[in-house]
Amino acid sequence: MALKITVIGTGYLGATHAAAMAELGFEVLGLDVVAEKIEMLSAGRVPMYEPGLEELLHKHVAGIEGSSGRLRFTRDWAEAADFGDVHFICVNTPQKHGEYACDMSYVDSAVESLARHLRRPALVVGKSTVPVGSADRLAARIAELAPAGGEVELAWNPEFLREGFAVHDTLHPDRLVVGVRAGAGGERAERTLREVYATPIAEGSPFVSTDFPTAELVKTSANSFLATKISFINAMAEVCEAAGGDVVKLAEALGHDERIGKKFLRAGIGFGGGCLPKDIRAFMARAGELGADQALTFLREVDSINMRRRGHMVELAREAVGADSSFLGKRVAVLGATFKPDSDDVRDSPALNVAGQIHLQGGQVTVYDPKGMANAKRLFPTLGYADSALDAVRGADVVLHLTEWSEFRELDPTTLGEAVSRRLILDGRNALDPERWRAAGWTYRAMGRPRA
Ligand code: UDX
Repeated sequence: MALKITVIGTGYLGATHAAAMAELGFEVLGLDVVAEKIEMLSAGRVPMYEPGLEELLHKHVAGIEGSSGRLRFTRDWAEAADFGDVHFICVNTPQKHGEYACDMSYVDSAVESLARHLRRPALVVGKSTVPVGSADRLAARIAELAPAGGEVELAWNPEFLREGFAVHDTLHPDRLVVGVRAGAGGERAERTLREVYATPIAEGSPFVSTDFPTAELVKTSANSFLATKISFINAMAEVCEAAGGDVVKLAEALGHDERIGKKFLRAGIGFGGGCLPKDIRAFMARAGELGADQALTFLREVDSINMRRRGHMVELAREAVGADSSFLGKRVAVLGATFKPDSDDVRDSPALNVAGQIHLQGGQVTVYDPKGMANAKRLFPTLGYADSALDAVRGADVVLHLTEWSEFRELDPTTLGEAVSRRLILDGRNALDPERWRAAGWTYRAMGRPRA
């Protein structure tokens, strides 16, 4: 009989995973504790912007005309526990308030709520990003709480999806990593997950089977490596600025070395979002608990280079508009609010951080973002907002390009030039074509590049 799947938590990770599992042909039940999310998803609507996800929901959510009917949502733990043979834990692990460590309370409570109702053999699969050691602790907790006791196995299967590419990354992962316990239970768990992921494996996704700690560490070390790569190129941008070099050319030349690779070498205002910043901090905190803090002291530098980028952009803007200690009387247009394009996520967004700093220093800031406006307004209600890039730049003394949406690359510098007070643009993502803007009479400046 085909396996039935539940997905606990329906954020970016869970909603995408649930829809992808239905796409692979499984009967799926998604569970969330937030009633509005369940209502929206049951109607085939996505609570966030994620390209392709809504279409996938429409294809599978029960009750939608023409759908496969394989995907349903609930808030009922007992129903989820009875339904699933495999339960994926997809709740978030945010940074603890005022601390580096990650907040495990959502994972703990999801696992405990589920375990209390598990009355038959099942596999619980953790996908959330957690501190190493969590899987061992959670396995013991499940054995203690589940009525089926030792018949419930745990596996750890970290998820590497990127926002904006969540559907693609889930259906065509670079690799599948599965951590299991030694012994017969672990072998069974691995066989079950190979069955669940038979399609991507058949299509060539490598399957790496390992123990719990290694599986947990693959995720945190992958994100640390990516963050390090970005901070490395941003450190080079600082040196380029001091020495008169061009970091974009430098990155291009470095990227031709296959050992280095071209990706994640885009210098600018740095990384943000719900993953990289909090994951490197949680990793440092956990290493400290394990007595291995020295191994990760370099991540402090990675974090501080990254945070410096935001302040540096504020300084470039200050210098550009000729402001002294404050931005009083200056109009600053900000293009982009999300932490990256093709997402509506503004968590730890470098763009909004820069906008907020300038606003706090007296600047009159107007923000426009193609998809992030509602979330930005909720988080930073005191900033000014406009409904289009053109409206945002009206009367501006300087335009800051802070999230590299394709819409901004296609803007017509001549039309925008007629709306601004001064034709001055600072490219915080090194993503615009300097020649196009300069040809239209703009002063174009970017981070880590020579001034024309
Ligand atoms: C990241 C990881 O890529 C993913 O594998 C993991 O599962 C979750 O965390 P995500 O947060 O969606 O995914 O975004 P990502 O595409 O990695 O970008 C993170 C941040 O780095 C963004 O703010 C982006 O603008 C910035 N970035 C990325 C750079 O500044 N330069 C680069 O070259 C690449």
